[in-house]
Amino acid sequence: MAKVIAVTSGKGGTGKSTICSGLGYALAKQGHRTLIIELDFGLRCLDIMFGMENSIQHDLGEVLNGKKKALDAVAQVPMASNLSILCAPKTLTPVNAEQIGDICSSLKKYFEYIIIDTGAGINSHVFDIVEQSNLILVVSTPDQVCIRDASLMSDEFYNRGNKSQRLIINKVSKKVIGNGLVANLDEIIDKVGIQLIGVIPDDFKMTVATGKGNPIPTDSEALKAFDAISKRLGGEFIPLTFNN
Ligand SMILES: Nc1ncnc2c1ncn2[C@@H]1O[C@H](COP(=O)(O)OP(=O)(O)OP(=O)(O)O)[C@@H](O)[C@H]1O
Ligand SMILES: [Mg+2]
Repeated sequence: MAKVIAVTSGKGGTGKSTICSGLGYALAKQGHRTLIIELDFGLRCLDIMFGMENSIQHDLGEVLNGKKKALDAVAQVPMASNLSILCAPKTLTPVNAEQIGDICSSLKKYFEYIIIDTGAGINSHVFDIVEQSNLILVVSTPDQVCIRDASLMSDEFYNRGNKSQRLIINKVSKKVIGNGLVANLDEIIDKVGIQLIGVIPDDFKMTVATGKGNPIPTDSEALKAFDAISKRLGGEFIPLTFNN
């Protein structure tokens, strides 16, 4: 039965979709059957990131309105045989947490990991959905506004009863850390107040790859970080460093 992992952040643009695609890719490359469900209604992007813009036939909207069974709307990603995606509809579609919960439940037996991309502008339904997941990955960049929003978000989930949370610090570079904006990574961890699971460097190679729908190159520093995080998710001890 799949472990459901929600990737979320307080502020938009922190890298949630990039992390879902990179982490999903790393898990799949390690042999884990992985599904990414995109909840960014009206603003889908996973199809572009995986080079599938012209090949996606079905999406979550058709599942929600009863036209398709969830498994039939799932698309296999060509660049990684163990990876599948269930894309968000291109238009705004009414949704509630119970429906997403039911869709996840119906798909759990086919996958080891289900990663949920919560999209921008988290609303109360998405809150309910994230709350029900087995693990919440809260994403922050080394930016004070982003750090505070991540902290508020994390507190809210904690107060609602989800204590299974880990922090991902994304877009990290030596240029940003220690220049007066943020002293070091410990400052971010302390302010958000949850345990760190990984640090992802600012990596232009990855931006180019995901923008063109190409696989993340094997020499990408970000991919190394995704590999490390995916192994930590499986319980392996991989020491944390500035770069992963
Ligand atoms: N580690 C990174 N290195 C370089 N660029 C990155 C990194 N992570 C994300 N980006 C870039 O930042 C931008 C925003 O990323 P992304 O779309 O994944 O954020 P998001 O949190 O999903 O946004 P939204 O809140 O709108 O859904 C993209 O251009 C992406 O390529
Ligand atoms: Mg996104």
